[in-house]
Amino acid sequence: MRKKTTIPDLLKMKQNGQRITVLTAYDYPFTRLVDNGGVDAILVGDSAGVVFAGHDTTLPVTMDEMIYHVRAVKRADPKALVVADMPFMSYQTGIEDACRNCGRMIKEGGAEAVKVEGGSNMAHVIRAVSSIDIPVMAHIGLTPQSVHRMGGYKVQGRNDQAERIMDDAFAVQHAGAFAVVLEGIPASLAAEISAELSIPTIGIGAGPSCDGQVLVIHDILGLCEKYSPKFVKRYADLAPLITAAVSQYVAEVRSGEFPTAEHSFT
Ligand code: KIV
Repeated sequence: MRKKTTIPDLLKMKQNGQRITVLTAYDYPFTRLVDNGGVDAILVGDSAGVVFAGHDTTLPVTMDEMIYHVRAVKRADPKALVVADMPFMSYQTGIEDACRNCGRMIKEGGAEAVKVEGGSNMAHVIRAVSSIDIPVMAHIGLTPQSVHRMGGYKVQGRNDQAERIMDDAFAVQHAGAFAVVLEGIPASLAAEISAELSIPTIGIGAGPSCDGQVLVIHDILGLCEKYSPKFVKRYADLAPLITAAVSQYVAEVRSGEFPTAEHSFT
């Protein structure tokens, strides 16, 4: 029987050169499917705000919404480690708010770790939250909650920005993060960071040399028709299949072909 993945397991995987697999999930049925697929960790991402709730950015997502998603994920009892994303303004306002809200995610949601966006600027938060035994995954490079500062979802760390991203990576490791997401940075910089850090790096749009990879489940299944970033690989194209199934249902109800005696009670 597969055993539950723990944070020490992820650290061991880095040390042994085993790549770490992470996907997002936001609800019970997808968590079952993703967990049965064998991922090491499930990220209950604030990307839920975009792919689940239909917002343009992750910024409107609230604590209560994230706790709702984390609870639904946990009800599926996944073997994968469950990491909950901290929404915008739940941790940026100071260490007291950060500790309280990260604590809520563990206590009320049942998350096993939290993720916060930011590097050197969030080191004090990562240090405070880690010091009360809440494991923190950091997230640097293209941080979607900084969309307005960045002027869009743009690759970070090119040329003279590279040193700042490297500093961020060391800052979050030093502050106590157990892993760090590297998003939207050049592959060569991600390779360098992954070689230098002792904690695992989890890449998304950061090339093949990270210690692990994370993607949004709706993106890899072709469920998000709005846009498809360059770094996404579509492993299935489910949207047309679902629409075809729904169209067939509509047609059969209209024609009287469904339901039959087989689907009726005597
Ligand atoms: O919100 C999210 O899903 C994320 C990942 C894409 C890294 O932050």
